[in-house]
Amino acid sequence: MHASRRAPIGMFDSGLGGLTVANALMRRLPTESLLYFGDTARVPYGPKSPDTVRRYALQIGQWLVQEGVKCIVVACNTATAHALEALQSSLSVPVIGVVEPGARAAVRASPVGPIGVIGTTGTIGSGAYVRAIQQQAPTARVLSAPCPLFVPLVEEGWVDHPATRLIAHDYLSPMREAQVDTLVLGCTHYPLLSSVIAAEMGPGVRLIDSAEETAAEVERILDDRGLRHDPVGDHDAGPVHRVVASDAPQHFLTLGGRFLDVPLTAVEYHVFT
Ligand code: DGL
Repeated sequence: MHASRRAPIGMFDSGLGGLTVANALMRRLPTESLLYFGDTARVPYGPKSPDTVRRYALQIGQWLVQEGVKCIVVACNTATAHALEALQSSLSVPVIGVVEPGARAAVRASPVGPIGVIGTTGTIGSGAYVRAIQQQAPTARVLSAPCPLFVPLVEEGWVDHPATRLIAHDYLSPMREAQVDTLVLGCTHYPLLSSVIAAEMGPGVRLIDSAEETAAEVERILDDRGLRHDPVGDHDAGPVHRVVASDAPQHFLTLGGRFLDVPLTAVEYHVFT
């Protein structure tokens, strides 16, 4: 038995949205256990300053390490944009963000662009996606736009509502005018709006959800470091998932199922003092 191979993968988001990444991880790495933290007491991160988001992310990262995780997935675009480097340099476990994998998938789909990126005000303001895309494809044309109302619309369950279609039409008009052929959904909540976004953008535009690519990256890192759970060699009874929220765990339990293929059965409560 190898203790760290059996340890859970830690992950966090400002709230529910990172469950889209948890879902992709469960599909790709079905024998791994997950410890998911949703910072529901302090959501949203999108409009907050980089310093504040970094402080929250470091606090959560340290807690996940104390809980014994073997790596950490920052399942939040805003936290990745503002805090990935700080987390990587201060924590003792590998830390994987969602921006790089999303950028890589976008460049693979559209090597010269134009590529569009949408996300929260914080993510777009940080320029993290544009940098990550242009690092891989220096001549690619990239256009980015914040869509701050999308998160509350998803939280409200308005994923196919006339108001959502109206707002999407407005937000996405610069993307249509620039004739982007690929659009990065640079926020954990946006995959839930993919049918509205796809209808606005038209059939020729590929939508990139970084969740699948992030799960592939986690798999690579676990393999490289000998941290992949081995269901035969480790002789255990299969994955044990924990979901923890910093506020209103019951609400999280009710809404969380929307983001997952499997039912969510319990949500613990942990608050930072
Ligand atoms: N999870 C955040 C992200 O991916 C969206 C929600 C928020 O603003 O906190 O950027």
